[in-house]
Amino acid sequence: MRVVIGGGSGFVGRELTRLLRDKNHEVTVISRHPGPGRITWGELESSGLPPCEGAVNLAGENLMNPLRWWNEGYKKDLFSSRIDTTKALADAIAASPNPPRSWVLVSGVACYKPSLTAEYTEDSQWAPFDFLSRLVKEWEAAALLPESMTKTTKQVVVRPGAVLGRDGGAMKQMLLPFWLGLGGTLGSGRQPFPWIHVTDLAGIIAQSLDPPSPSDVPPSSDPPYSVPPSSRQVLNGVSPALNTNYEFTKELGRVLNRPTILPVPAFVLNTLLGSERAVVLAQGQKVVPKRTLETGFQYKFPDLASALKEIANS
Ligand SMILES: NC(=O)c1ccc[n+]([C@@H]2O[C@H](COP(=O)([O-])OP(=O)(O)OC[C@H]3O[C@@H](n4cnc5c(N)ncnc54)[C@H](OP(=O)(O)O)[C@@H]3O)[C@@H](O)[C@H]2O)c1
Repeated sequence: MRVVIGGGSGFVGRELTRLLRDKNHEVTVISRHPGPGRITWGELESSGLPPCEGAVNLAGENLMNPLRWWNEGYKKDLFSSRIDTTKALADAIAASPNPPRSWVLVSGVACYKPSLTAEYTEDSQWAPFDFLSRLVKEWEAAALLPESMTKTTKQVVVRPGAVLGRDGGAMKQMLLPFWLGLGGTLGSGRQPFPWIHVTDLAGIIAQSLDPPSPSDVPPSSDPPYSVPPSSRQVLNGVSPALNTNYEFTKELGRVLNRPTILPVPAFVLNTLLGSERAVVLAQGQKVVPKRTLETGFQYKFPDLASALKEIANS
């Protein structure tokens, strides 16, 4: 199969590309920068979608970019880099004479309101309540294909928590302070910390690109069908472990054999990151991957100990 990946040059995209190529699939990346194995967003717009059986969007300005101050310009870039690229890919899929059989958007768990007690599955109802949840709402809306395509293209949204891996995401910024013994719980530490190992996230996306199986189809639908009749499937891209920030901090300190005695108070996070973005670290949601488990997905790293050991030793 050939897969087109918007933003495939990034942290998750590199892992997904490795996994797909290991399975002998071909990958074309859509990027802002031309290069071998790539097309640019401008080329997508002018020449249309290259022939492919799967499409994924991973493009987006990094939410935790340490070089960017939280201001209106950055917030605008967070929106446009996700919504414009997603819309461009969805439009190209809709205009394609041979649309791919699967279209996967990777968004985030920020749609679920932070809470110490509520548990969220893919079935949980939600409405935007802050900056990041509004972003997820518009982002996922931009991915929707016309109603007439529900029979030709399987649409999947994967909502990951913090993606853990050696060469990107949160760990890249955290490993050094932890090595130096400067790691500590964030805020109260009691807040849930939804996370996933990057290998498992790539696995969930790759599985979503597979042709629809009978288990994708709700029992109420009538055969024959080539794709599920529901307009799209949502999968929570989190480990099933349901950890808190305290548990994450202690496990990382244990794996690295470093002390974790310096808590970072919430007001410091708010000052450094801006309160609308500090929410991701200082607060959190208990996110349950109910449907992801129902698809039969087998996690390689279902618990923190195995995930962090792999990252520390790789
Ligand atoms: N990493 C996480 O912990 C995490 C958690 C939840 C959700 N997600 C979501 O998952 C997706 C993939 O995450 P990731 O960590 O792989 O992202 P990433 O490495 O930070 O970025 C992915 C790609 O997005 C493109 N990009 C960056 N800024 C852009 C801009 N201003 N306009 C257009 N494209 C831009 C870049 O591709 P080019 O330079 O080649 O154009 C980059 O390689 C993102 O949408 C992210 O929001 C990630």
